[in-house]
Amino acid sequence: MYVGTNWKMNKSCAEARQFASVLRDRLNPSVFSTVSVFVIPPVTALTQVLQLKEFGVRLGVQNIFWEASGAYTGEISAIQAVDAGASVIEIGHSERREMFGETDYTVARKVKAAVDAGATALICVGETWDVYQTGRFVPFVQGQTAIATSLVTASQLSNVWIAYEPTWAIGEGSDPAQPHDVRDVHRGIRQELEYRFGHKGSGVPILYGGSVDGSNATEFLSIDDVDGLFVGRYALDPERFVETIEVVNRYVANYAGTA
Ligand code: PGA
Repeated sequence: MYVGTNWKMNKSCAEARQFASVLRDRLNPSVFSTVSVFVIPPVTALTQVLQLKEFGVRLGVQNIFWEASGAYTGEISAIQAVDAGASVIEIGHSERREMFGETDYTVARKVKAAVDAGATALICVGETWDVYQTGRFVPFVQGQTAIATSLVTASQLSNVWIAYEPTWAIGEGSDPAQPHDVRDVHRGIRQELEYRFGHKGSGVPILYGGSVDGSNATEFLSIDDVDGLFVGRYALDPERFVETIEVVNRYVANYAGTA
């Protein structure tokens, strides 16, 4: 199981150090044998939390550009992200799609750059409320998944994770998706990956994100093809992130292998 958080455009360097020290103090490192934990700070704070890497937490960045280097003011490359300590590269979050012109095609190029650099591409997919209301959201998300992974080879698939995050379930004032919809979409993503990549598609972790908190985490984890959770604002508080990791750890201990 996987659990991670993206801080978005939040936290100073001092707050990042504080978050890291709470994790180190409160988390029993034995959780890392069953739960893969990752933290995606803003790039300004990445070096402040490097100690988490030695502790067992993977670090990430929230975006990259697909070129390796050059005159691209304001951008960072996958190679630079890896060099700075990231091993997870988040790509195509809905806020980037909605506010910064990210498309399925730019996502595909960034995914290729990330895996070529040896990082794990964490691809965010998910429909808008308008698409959800049409009832055709499963094929929509399958289409996003197909394009996002179109430049990746089967042998690179071990460096791909998917996060299903319906845009309407994200952020303050939103409600999480219904478990039966999450089940249908995750199954659809899995089928799409298996159709494209055969049995290698079966091993790609598919995480759910969108208003996840300590009270609903177990319900999402118990859905077929949900391999983990991607938590936003609830996990900005390190105590709550620890609590969420512990929920996942308990779930694995109690239920794994019994389903
Ligand atoms: P949220 O954000 O948990 O605050 O809804 C989720 C996300 O954007 O990944």
